[in-house]
Amino acid sequence: MVSSSSDHPASSSELALREIPGSYGLPFFGPIKDRYDYFYNQGQDDFFKARIKKYNSTVFRTNMPPGPFISSNPKVVAVLDSKSFTILFDNDKVEKKDILDGTFMPSLSFFGGYRVCAFLDTTESNHHALKSFFLSFLASSHKKFIPYLRTGLSELYGNLENEIAEKKSADFNNNCDNMAFDFMFKLVTGVLPSETELKSKGPATITTWLALQLAPLGTAGLKYVPHFLEDIIHTIRLPFLVIKPGYNKLYKAIYDSASSLLDEAEKSGMKRAEACHNLVFLVGFNAFGGMKVLFPTVIKWIATGGQSLHRRLAEEIRAVVKEEGDITFSALEKMPLTKSAVYEVLRIDPPVPFQYAKAREDIVVESHDAAFQIKKGETIFGYQPLVTKDPKVFDNPDDFVADRFVGDGEKLIKYVYWSNARETEQPSADNKQCPAKDLIVLCCRLMLVELFLRYDTFTAEIGKQGGLGTPVKITSFTKAT
Ligand code: HEM
Repeated sequence: MVSSSSDHPASSSELALREIPGSYGLPFFGPIKDRYDYFYNQGQDDFFKARIKKYNSTVFRTNMPPGPFISSNPKVVAVLDSKSFTILFDNDKVEKKDILDGTFMPSLSFFGGYRVCAFLDTTESNHHALKSFFLSFLASSHKKFIPYLRTGLSELYGNLENEIAEKKSADFNNNCDNMAFDFMFKLVTGVLPSETELKSKGPATITTWLALQLAPLGTAGLKYVPHFLEDIIHTIRLPFLVIKPGYNKLYKAIYDSASSLLDEAEKSGMKRAEACHNLVFLVGFNAFGGMKVLFPTVIKWIATGGQSLHRRLAEEIRAVVKEEGDITFSALEKMPLTKSAVYEVLRIDPPVPFQYAKAREDIVVESHDAAFQIKKGETIFGYQPLVTKDPKVFDNPDDFVADRFVGDGEKLIKYVYWSNARETEQPSADNKQCPAKDLIVLCCRLMLVELFLRYDTFTAEIGKQGGLGTPVKITSFTKAT
């Protein structure tokens, strides 16, 4: 079977079959060597770039962390160009069972003992049931998106202004985490977390819960700690026990307040507890985890665009809002620069960098230059930050070009892959695309709309990117004139 990616530029119908280059090295030592290269010697981007150069191929074999002693099989075939990467979206050819976090699966105790939706393959009936449940929940909440977000964003910017007045700069991440959690919790339950026993503990509880399950994939970047000590985190699983009381509180808050949604789940044949653990994962991992990374990234790139970008965005946004009289779905559609700037953030800095899948059968995958046979059962891996900077698809791929997707540039939107599919595709119960794809794009657009209705420009200090986002401090806001 040949994967069809014929819409890519420079695609030729007769690509020569090439053996997949690269090696896994010696058992046990090979994966550890790759892990050291990846975390300490080369770093993520250079790990992949060096191998692309060495093998003269964007498709090659390598081990992916964590490796020993956490993953039993760290061997993958990496697909690192815009064309070969699309094999990961082809659910007829690849399986997505227990592979969300890559070559290891966290303990099910983190999820109440259930394999929640994101770990299920499209062939599992539970995936269809849960994904349909989420899609119908999102469709029925549609009218709440804009008012809830506008309230949250207005509070967010107000809080940031107060913090700047008090301390000269404001922590965007903490304030934005609170906004994101309140928004998602209220969407699911109808009440704010502060109206439940959870009070203000949600974001900190979830951050610990996320860090414990995802620790094997990250690095603390500790300057004065030797690598062999820091590396221990990649060899053992951290226990759920540490966060069990916090998780239980979160579960109870959602169980008690999301009754009508849980009633619906039960009516469609799901167990109430299973549906509720899925909602915890939805709010905590999918939504909060994603927003925690993405929203500061949006502000980071817009900040680096400087005053001239800010002026153009403010002009566009204010003109449309004046003409339409309000902020509506259709008003947001009339803002080409704002839309493009958001797609450009999602392209240059995709919030979920890794995607994995397993070949369901022997398949042939094409890069721009060659065809490769991947055997049934082999793990396929893509590192999206390189893929959406493919120079054969995007000019000046390393530059943030806010208006890249305006006018003729719209034809490039299909090469934006952040939601685990092309941006031009729609999530369904039969695929693995993020069901909140359109909601998240809306959130980012609204974040910019509210920003530039309130301010002419702003400045920010950007910290070093970590596993759960980039630290952003707002240092000034200039009120709208
Ligand atoms: C900025 C926020 C978000 C980002 C970056 C994001 C990203 C993603 C990505 C990349 C995937 C695919 C993962 C994979 O299989 O490799 C995914 C799946 C998923 N997302 Fe999102 N997401 C976000 C917000 C949300 C929200 C708000 C919801 C709630 C409705 C949600 C629900 C899900 C679910 C249920 C899946 C699993 C889909 C399936 O199994 O078919 N996500 N998300």
